Amino acid sequence: MLDTLGNLKRTKYCGALRASDADTNVVLMGWVHRRRDLGQLIFIDLRDRAGIAQIVFNKELNPEAHAKAEELRSEFVVAVEGRVIQRQKANAEIATGEVEIAAAKLHILNNSKTPPFQIEDQVTASEETRLRYRYLDLRRPRPHRNIELRHRVFFEIRKTLDEMGFFEIETPILTRSTPEGARDCLVPSRVHHGQFYALPQSPQIFKQILMISGMDRYFQLCKCFRDEDFRADRQLEFTQLDLEMSFPRQEDIFEVIERVMERTLAIVGLQAKRPFRHLDYQEALRRYGSDKPDLRFGMELNNVTQFFDAAREKLQIQGNVQAVIAPGAATWSRKQLDELAEHAKSAGARGVYTIKVTAEGISSGLEKTLGIEAIRELADTVGGKPGDLIVAVAAKEQIQHHDTSLGVAGNVRLYLGDKLNLIDRSKWEFAWITGFALFEWSETEKRWASAQHPFTGIVEEDLDKLETAPWECRSKGYDLVLNGVELGSGSIRIHRQDVQARMFKALGLTDEQARQRFGFFLDALTYGTPPHGGIALGLDRVVMLLAGEKSIRDVIAFPKTTAAVDLMAESPSEVGADQLDDLGIAIKESKR
Ligand code: AMO
Repeated sequence: MLDTLGNLKRTKYCGALRASDADTNVVLMGWVHRRRDLGQLIFIDLRDRAGIAQIVFNKELNPEAHAKAEELRSEFVVAVEGRVIQRQKANAEIATGEVEIAAAKLHILNNSKTPPFQIEDQVTASEETRLRYRYLDLRRPRPHRNIELRHRVFFEIRKTLDEMGFFEIETPILTRSTPEGARDCLVPSRVHHGQFYALPQSPQIFKQILMISGMDRYFQLCKCFRDEDFRADRQLEFTQLDLEMSFPRQEDIFEVIERVMERTLAIVGLQAKRPFRHLDYQEALRRYGSDKPDLRFGMELNNVTQFFDAAREKLQIQGNVQAVIAPGAATWSRKQLDELAEHAKSAGARGVYTIKVTAEGISSGLEKTLGIEAIRELADTVGGKPGDLIVAVAAKEQIQHHDTSLGVAGNVRLYLGDKLNLIDRSKWEFAWITGFALFEWSETEKRWASAQHPFTGIVEEDLDKLETAPWECRSKGYDLVLNGVELGSGSIRIHRQDVQARMFKALGLTDEQARQRFGFFLDALTYGTPPHGGIALGLDRVVMLLAGEKSIRDVIAFPKTTAAVDLMAESPSEVGADQLDDLGIAIKESKR
């Protein structure tokens, strides 16, 4: 027989009990985390949102409650009335360890099936099982902590932006496609057969229109939807802090975001070093092989192409060769070197060459091809010291206007930094990356594509090159990077209709296509558009970094798997024939 909650009122969270509560009466409610039956005494660890408290049922003192406690099993939901007493032997491992509750009355409010895994942080169940039973998984302390942190971050951001005069304004979820480079999630219209809404990849056009509407400062913590390849830091639906300002200089946007990040880091007791460092895109690529460099360690790239020029054919390599110095890796075993080569190749390397520098001298598999003199010179040029392993890579793939060796070397740098423990995990290294090119060459489409999106502003002096030399146009875009993760991206926008129309043309859209896709926006631009600019931060990534997690799945209450499936709700799912009929949709034979 289950008890009812009736008029019982909780007086305290289990996890909030402290020594100062001793000798008070409490009513606690929560889940049975663990039960230990010692015959005369039954101990219950009672768990709620705030933590765990120990309850003692004493057969001698309170036979009725003790008898009832014998029925308890893991995850039963109970209310306990009792008295807080100082423990004889404190448990330093838990926050409530100085006290326990002598139970006077037990109410069993609900029972539970045996859960498929223990509700512990050291859970051994697979991620698949955990996501299938996400409601149980979320009962563990770590997801609890992450979800609370997420709430605190969102709340602080809202407060900070409100203080700075921003309005939070919602934009539509059922809308039309905005180009952010991914596939759209589409929703068929029941009223207009054959027509579809697109879920927003971002509120980009709407927030620009809000500037045209004179809202001046807009922000939104919004869901965005992108049907792209999912990884640890990407989901089908994710949350952005999206903002836009009228009449801003780039510095004004940086100032707003730096304040937001400063306040956000303070939530976990960290101090952001301000102003954030600025790094030119080309420089970031050249020095770190990445447009989102992890600046918590050095190991910069060295261009060593000149030493390989003579042996290009023999080594069958094209393009540049980049080298990094791995301190202390001269002693790496064959196996470690093989793993390094394996990694470099999976990152796109054609050739991976290593040079060992030891007190005795230099050795390398390249000796026969390059000659010991050239190798020594290479080692001297990059500054190799005894104990170092110099790792040089050339890329497999060659792309027009793009040095692919940099990206491969950047990837190897991260691998080595991790393996050699060079990354100082206590550091929080922000950087603004600026100086992006406006376009990048799309090999698949054989045309120039927006490096970011087509609303990104163009550096004034480069406007003339929009039609003649698009590859030379510089953008007014910027990215915010933290510890090697791209947190956000934004720009000062194009605010003139004629420039926006030229931009669409440069991207290969005919007037008609541009009108068909963005006509309303081109029209809006003609009615007194103020200069404006903004940015969007990936909030799942922000919380992931603050929580010290490796995947954004760990900071989202109900995430999808990398196969874009919600294992708990079992979505996506098939729908009934009548629903499809309503929508005027027929399903073709599945391709898969
Ligand atoms: P962008 O496309 O760079 O810019 O997105 C901004 C930030 O959103 C995060 N993000 C994601 N997070 C999780 N899963 C995803 N699939 C995903 N895709 C992006 C990243 C990224 O830096 N409209 C522009 C912003 C602007 O110009 O104001 C935009 O959306 O952290």
